[in-house]
Amino acid sequence: MSGAVMEAIGLRKSFVMPHGRIEVLRGADISIGAGETVAILGRSGAGKSTLLNVLGGLDAPDAGEVRFQGAPFSSLSERRRTAIRATGIGFVFQSFQLLPEMTVLENAILPAMAAGRLGRAAMRRRAAELLDRAGLSHRLSHRPPELSGGEQQRVAIARALMNSPALVLADEPTGNLDGATGCAVLDFLFEMVASIGGAMAIVTHDVSLAARCSRTVTLEEGVFK
Ligand SMILES: Nc1ncnc2c1ncn2[C@@H]1O[C@H](COP(=O)(O)OP(=O)(O)OP(=O)(O)O)[C@@H](O)[C@H]1O
Ligand SMILES: [Mg+2]
Repeated sequence: MSGAVMEAIGLRKSFVMPHGRIEVLRGADISIGAGETVAILGRSGAGKSTLLNVLGGLDAPDAGEVRFQGAPFSSLSERRRTAIRATGIGFVFQSFQLLPEMTVLENAILPAMAAGRLGRAAMRRRAAELLDRAGLSHRLSHRPPELSGGEQQRVAIARALMNSPALVLADEPTGNLDGATGCAVLDFLFEMVASIGGAMAIVTHDVSLAARCSRTVTLEEGVFK
């Protein structure tokens, strides 16, 4: 469909547990337009993280389909999905998920290595530029455990933006940060996504964050209400 960077149709996902099957997604539909920011709300356990994992191709739906930039995505082989994700989608998680043994610069470079489009010097330049915009020029050779939570999340955002993805998927990116730090991190995230003209789906419990987005959707009983 024209204009949609990502579309999901009839997503179903359940988990089989010893005491029975949990139906998390029960036919969820969502469409994210190019350059649009969509806030995803829903109570704890509603399936927001499950949905983001399926949208980003980290997990496969039991039924339904995800299309990315008008082409099949969820139905592709793991290998082809990974290749598309490497260049087209950036992830930001609540728990940062940086590699603790690598430096800040090396962490930010990782998606460019996966994409394999830039040479080593160009990759380092791009990462250094993003980290400079994150206010972290003085931390390039530090390791993530030496950084504050807000600094770590800014590294994770720089990493997510490394390949200028068409879509950023953020799962409660300020969930582990205090109010003021979270605000500064969000300013950086929204500024960076806008600067590349990207779209974003952002899971949040924070109504004021949702108000910054173009649109809000709520996941309830496995579908968008
Ligand atoms: N890998 C898994 N195995 C079994 N059950 C799972 C798995 N992942 C998620 N679930 C279950 O699916 C439901 C939805 O989980 P999910 O993490 O998507 O919720 P959420 O909306 O992100 O919640 P929160 O706001 O607390 O992060 C929960 O009941 C959870 O226990
Ligand atoms: Mg979650």
